[in-house]
Amino acid sequence: MSQPTSPQHKLRLGVLGSGSGTNCQALLDACAKPDFPAEIAVIISDVENAKILDRARQAGIEARWIAPGKFRTKLEPEVEQRYVAALRQHNVELVCLAGFMRVLKDDFLKAFPGRVINIHPALLPAFPGLESWKQALDHGAKVAGCTVHFVDAGVDSGPILVQAAVPVLDSDTAQTLHARIQVEEHRIYPEAVRLIAEGRLRVEGRRVLRRE
Ligand code: GAR
Repeated sequence: MSQPTSPQHKLRLGVLGSGSGTNCQALLDACAKPDFPAEIAVIISDVENAKILDRARQAGIEARWIAPGKFRTKLEPEVEQRYVAALRQHNVELVCLAGFMRVLKDDFLKAFPGRVINIHPALLPAFPGLESWKQALDHGAKVAGCTVHFVDAGVDSGPILVQAAVPVLDSDTAQTLHARIQVEEHRIYPEAVRLIAEGRLRVEGRRVLRRE
């Protein structure tokens, strides 16, 4: 994480997602810019007909569906190893979760130590888990937002890289609030990837600090 890559080297990303893939699209768009220090090597989904895979194909990036197995919220251990193998096959250096709706277990995380990040639609540590924008609205929060964080063994609990706040309006529905949060997600996810790719971060315990 702390090693800056050489100016020519582009950090190789593997993106995992289960749904529409708008965050993946933001990464694809960022990677299409010549000065962006990362490239997407492979996009993998646990959902066979997920739109994120269409986005991959449209961008000419390898799209893989790897069936998740019998569990609903995690991958079977053998399946997890299939994900690891596919990512390694593409020499992935940073795994980006983009709406991947399953928890990754220790064996996966050990395969990419400090090299798995996630985008979450809330200002963590508030509202971990599912439909966090709805949790914020139902709780009566006045400020919602999004967080890019390192993935650890907990649920949405790893060190925080970048956050953005979004005001909750009296007129908001879950849908309108999520839409405004997503605008910020699409901005901060590429920003976080750039910071990592340029070696501009160091981790001290829970704190992720910018290098001088
Ligand atoms: C995003 O809002 C992301 O933050 C959220 O799912 C959405 C996926 O949208 N992730 C989670 O809730 C993970 N706990 P996308 O497929 O359009 O990127």
